[in-house]
Amino acid sequence: METMKAVVCTKYGPPEVLRLVQYKKPIPKDDEVLINIHATSVTNSDVFIRSSRVSWQLLIPMRLMMGITKPRKEIIGEVFSGIVTEIGSKITRFHVGDLVYGLTGYSLGAYAEYKCMKEADSKQGCLSIKPHNISFEEATSAAYGGLLAFQFLEQADVQPREKVLIYGASGTSGIIALQLAKHLQAEVTGVCSSRHISFIEELGADKTIDYTHDDEIGKLEVYDMVFDCVGKARSSALKEACKRALTNKGRYISIDDSALRLDSGRLDRVRELIENEKIKAINDRCYPLEQIVEAHRYVELGHKRGNVAITVI
Ligand SMILES: NC(=O)c1ccc[n+]([C@@H]2O[C@H](COP(=O)([O-])OP(=O)(O)OC[C@H]3O[C@@H](n4cnc5c(N)ncnc54)[C@H](OP(=O)(O)O)[C@@H]3O)[C@@H](O)[C@H]2O)c1
Repeated sequence: METMKAVVCTKYGPPEVLRLVQYKKPIPKDDEVLINIHATSVTNSDVFIRSSRVSWQLLIPMRLMMGITKPRKEIIGEVFSGIVTEIGSKITRFHVGDLVYGLTGYSLGAYAEYKCMKEADSKQGCLSIKPHNISFEEATSAAYGGLLAFQFLEQADVQPREKVLIYGASGTSGIIALQLAKHLQAEVTGVCSSRHISFIEELGADKTIDYTHDDEIGKLEVYDMVFDCVGKARSSALKEACKRALTNKGRYISIDDSALRLDSGRLDRVRELIENEKIKAINDRCYPLEQIVEAHRYVELGHKRGNVAITVI
């Protein structure tokens, strides 16, 4: 039996429940490609699955979905970038040697050297050719942040000169949302904490607001769109005030309003803007797979700047 390196999560708990082991290498079916994963990410969703730390109202639905006493999928991880090394007989979109990036959806399994993926989009994931001008690690940031930011900004139909406020502009999705809104010629206000203000100015924010200083609420204007990129679990006095700082037709959208759509067409659009240097994918830190526990500890602190990538090989 051929084996591979993988990180397993065999019970819910703190980062230390994650273990690096040798695991059976998957074999692709006729309608699957085998990807040699070069990089993955530690996302908030991974932390959520591993820790199972949710409000009591969400505990039962979450456990029914992810596994009652332990994660149903031993190998977690939902973001990947790597190289196609084998293809099934029914595969038409990909070839051996293609550099790809994508999300695994419910199938998870990205914390491993190899992963089988169907080429068609489904709840089991989506994949596309990776932008050629960024590293595998950066591509994981682009896949996750890009899919989230594009989905909600496309839904909002942002128009040139509209005033857009990005709440949580220094996170993985916020960084891409800010740059995409600028690309769409909106006037963009970015919200983050003091230590990230100059960073989001460099990314192109026209104006900035520090959510940790209540006196900055007075800097709020009236917006055509407010996009909450940190999600419903994290708030502040400023976020509450943002909800009222809207024009008559203004839209307030939270990144948690609807489920993430696994859409390879959207990954293609993310790639195009990255290759045309309209958008940058930014990593805060990169850890080797062997340090996955440390990476989870860091992400759990809640203040990463962009994505935390894991180098698998
Ligand atoms: N719809 C879906 O299916 C779906 C799927 C996946 C994720 N999500 C949601 O997307 C969210 C964002 O994920 P992400 O990885 O892009 O975010 P992230 O990278 O974890 O965001 C980190 C940033 O959040 C900022 N932050 C922390 N607490 C804050 C607060 N109270 N107010 C404002 N900013 C705060 C931090 O900035 P400072 O350090 O400057 O404070 C940090 O830079 C997740 O938390 C989840 O709710 C939704």
